[in-house]
Amino acid sequence: MLLTTGPTYEKIDPVRFIGNFSSGKMGFAIAEELANQGADIVLITGPTNQHTQNPRIKRIDVITAEEMYTTAVQYYPDCDGGIMTAAVADFTPLHPEDIKVKRGKENYQIELTPTKDIAAALGRMKSKNQFLVGFALETNDEESNAKLKLEKKNLDFIVLNSLNDKGAGFQYDTNKISILNGKGVKKKFELKLKKEVAVDIVKEVLEYYKDK
Ligand code: CTP
Repeated sequence: MLLTTGPTYEKIDPVRFIGNFSSGKMGFAIAEELANQGADIVLITGPTNQHTQNPRIKRIDVITAEEMYTTAVQYYPDCDGGIMTAAVADFTPLHPEDIKVKRGKENYQIELTPTKDIAAALGRMKSKNQFLVGFALETNDEESNAKLKLEKKNLDFIVLNSLNDKGAGFQYDTNKISILNGKGVKKKFELKLKKEVAVDIVKEVLEYYKDK
């Protein structure tokens, strides 16, 4: 099974980047839970201080959205399915500087260009025996936004966490999720430790995969 996790870092110059607050905790917890249940995992992770324990997890460290994309596209065909938990940068600097940008008195502008959508690319590659799960972190119109992403990226289901829920999302040890599938069926879960949330997600994935 393939997992993406963590943030990506997009280079501005040799010492600066555009990143985000993703810790990778949710993805590492899901990888560990799946591996404990006997699955072989390819875990593609952006920069994070998380560690893997189970030897069934093959960890591949990447930095940028482009590297994560290339690695995911390479490994997905040999996997039963994919779980996309990474907080991939949506934009990257078009012209990263070769030398450190100096302090100045003028405004400084960076032109950004869109990155590739990894989940959507895997959604297009997906065979009928494979599954694909996405995550959505929303601040508004949570359910309708999540449903749109599910359809656009050809996902089997999507795990929704809202930034409006206290204790859910980036950096926290807890998360509060709902799971939506293509049929519009929704399951809501309580606020739990990310390790417990991982157990719920893995249960859904394995039940779904069994019937596929
Ligand atoms: N995703 C991805 N590659 C990207 C962007 C997102 O694989 N370049 C995946 C995420 O890992 C997640 C899902 O797509 O599983 C939804 O990510 P999200 O950031 O919520 O959606 P976006 O498509 O980036 O849309 P927006 O940021 O506009 O809400």
